[in-house]
Formats: sequence, structure tokens, C-alpha cells
Amino acid sequence: MRKPLIAANWKMYKTPAEAESFLHAFLPLVEGHTRNEIVLCPSFVALAPVLAAIKGSAHPAHPHPRIHVGAQNMHFAAEGAYTGEISAGMLSALGVTHVIIGHSERRQYFGETDELLNRKLAAALEKRLIPILCVGETEQEREQGKTEEVLSRQIGRAISQIEPGKLEPMVVAYEPVWAIGTGKTATPLMAADAHLMIRTHVAQLVGRPIAEALRILYGGSVKPDNATSLLSQPEIDGALVGGASLDPASFARIIQ
Ligand code: PGA
Repeated sequence: MRKPLIAANWKMYKTPAEAESFLHAFLPLVEGHTRNEIVLCPSFVALAPVLAAIKGSAHPAHPHPRIHVGAQNMHFAAEGAYTGEISAGMLSALGVTHVIIGHSERRQYFGETDELLNRKLAAALEKRLIPILCVGETEQEREQGKTEEVLSRQIGRAISQIEPGKLEPMVVAYEPVWAIGTGKTATPLMAADAHLMIRTHVAQLVGRPIAEALRILYGGSVKPDNATSLLSQPEIDGALVGGASLDPASFARIIQ
């Protein structure tokens, strides 16, 4: 029922020219692919070039799957004196459809709190962007048996006061902090277990139908050789891929 979503988080990598050459190699590799929804999240400066390259490649004889473009961050305000920031409205005016909210690197290095992320989530939904809300425990929290508590708190605070009906497009990415960029992956069972915790908690907060329809992605050292075992778990509805999404062949293998 839930269409799998595979998203690339390029973080602070790739100039516009590098992003374009990625697409040149990548698009033919996923030609005709329909099983997964594909989202590319380049840096702000590469958003427009990536959108243009996807549009420019559309050709009736070579049907590419629809590739969506997402941002990696946004500000919660509609506009204002916030030097260096970018609003949800600016993103959607550009043709961006998705936005990553609350990646652990934003939480860790830029001090983003659950309360701030709640405002960002509400603003994204208001502008009809599809938010990919990231949650996940640190290694220490897992060792202390606090995984469920952390996930429940992060989810609960992020969606607090948002009308349940508005949450429907939201996607959640479970990204255990200890697995991001480390080469350590949660086992498929560990990930499935955490996904179930998230889904159960969402059901308690906003009801079963929304929780059942919610896509929960796994992120943290997803590579071509572990993608199949992770994605074959019924609880895992896709992946948020960092390092392995930078190379067109490896990202295409994950999608295939
Ligand atoms: P990784 O990053 O795949 O390089 O571990 C995932 C992420 O940070 O979203």
C-alpha cells in the first residue's frame, strides 16, 4: 500500500556542475523505473540546476521516472529578516516538492530543537512541501535502553499541535545517529523494530489510519549491498541515503 521512497541526501557535497553530471549519468540508469518514488536533495545552490536538468531530460521515447527534488533544510517563517535563511514558499516556488526536517546533523551542529522542528514541520505542510522528518537515537541512548523514549519524544514534539489531517503527506526517516556515515548499519530487524515503535506511537497520537499510511524510511549507511535486506522488511518503506547517493551507479543500484 505504501509506495517506497528512496531519497538522496547529498549534504554539503556537489557544485551545480557536479550535480548536473550526476544526473547525466543517473537518469539513464533508472529509466522506466516505477516501483520507488525517487527524491534527490541537493544543496540549495544546486536545486535549480537539478530541477532544470530533470525537466530538460524529459523525452517521450525515454521515459524517466518522475524524480522529485527536495531541500535539506528550511526556515519556519514565511519571510522576514533572517539573513542566510530560505523559506518553504521560496522552495515551492522553485518547484521543490520535499524537504528534510531535523536531520541529526542539524540537531547536533546547528542546535535545532524539537520545538524549532515543530515550527518548521508546520510551515512545510502549510506550503504543501512533503516533509521528511528525521528522528533517531544516539549510541549512548540506545545503550541506556532509551531508544523508544527518544523516538517518541522527537515524534511527539515535532507533530505537536499540528492538525492530524494535515500530517498525511509527512514522511518519517528513522536514522540512528550511530549509523550515519559510520558504515555501521542497524540490522534489518533492529530497524524494523524501531519503525514499529514509531508507527505505534504515531497511531496513539493521531490514530491508526494516518499511522498505517505513514512512510517510514531507514537511513544510516545504506549501501547497495545492504539495501535489499533492509528494504525487504515490511516495516521499512524506503531509505534516506547519504554517502552512497553521491555516486550515480551506487544510488541507482540501491533503487533497483
Ligand atoms: P549515510 O547518511 O548514508 O552516509 O550514513 C545518511 C543520512 O545522513 O541521511
